[in-house]
Amino acid sequence: MNTQVFAHRGASCTAPENTLPAFEQAAALHADGVELDVHLSADGQLVVIHDDTVGRTTNGIGVVHQMTLEQLKTLDASMGKAGFAGVKIPTLEEVYRLLQPTGLQVNVELKENEYDNGFAVIPKVLALEEAYGMSGRVFYSSFNHYALREMKHLSAKIQTGLLYAAALVDVWDYAASVPADAIHPNFFTLRDKNLVLQCHAFDIAVRPWTVDNEADLQNMFEQNVDTVITNDPELALRLRKENG
Ligand code: G3P
Ligand code: MG
Repeated sequence: MNTQVFAHRGASCTAPENTLPAFEQAAALHADGVELDVHLSADGQLVVIHDDTVGRTTNGIGVVHQMTLEQLKTLDASMGKAGFAGVKIPTLEEVYRLLQPTGLQVNVELKENEYDNGFAVIPKVLALEEAYGMSGRVFYSSFNHYALREMKHLSAKIQTGLLYAAALVDVWDYAASVPADAIHPNFFTLRDKNLVLQCHAFDIAVRPWTVDNEADLQNMFEQNVDTVITNDPELALRLRKENG
């Protein structure tokens, strides 16, 4: 079985999501990669946080793209998890500095583009990828497929994956038409091996999220998906090992 295991928002079962400790833990577990979420701060910095607002994951309040990096860095992003008090929202640069030596891959999910159709985030993520020598180890996903199409127009080499949550018909045709290299479906929408086989016939990778329990992980492995994106990389890696 060749399915890769990516830690969703880092090892977010055991560390605060989208923080350096969560990415460190993913590396220590020897996950194949991590998924993370990127927004632009008010002063144009790439910051790693899931929501548009800081309320759920930090001790502050406010809208991420209306706050400067300095303001965001004053917040505690430990989410009340013991042992992580004082951990900060990281920049994408800090994550690359941490992960560059590890060889892990990075799935950068572009959140900014869900409300900013100027796509200001795109040149910034590409420049950072290049500066840290991460080319070939980074791929981009978004629920905004226009953003991913824009990336492909910039360069066919940029790897992209279409995020979606509905049970789409003939999604391989759609992916080829965008175009994109992969689909990133909610795993609930993967009903049988046919979808994976059809995507593979079109050379489109299949990377479902967020697959967290044993039965669902086994099901994804059996369907031979390319990657599982999971909050529990430890469990996924153990099951993969047991399955050989
Ligand atoms: O990239 C997979 C997954 O993270 C997409 O949804 O809301 O968790 O970012 P969300
Ligand atoms: Mg995400």
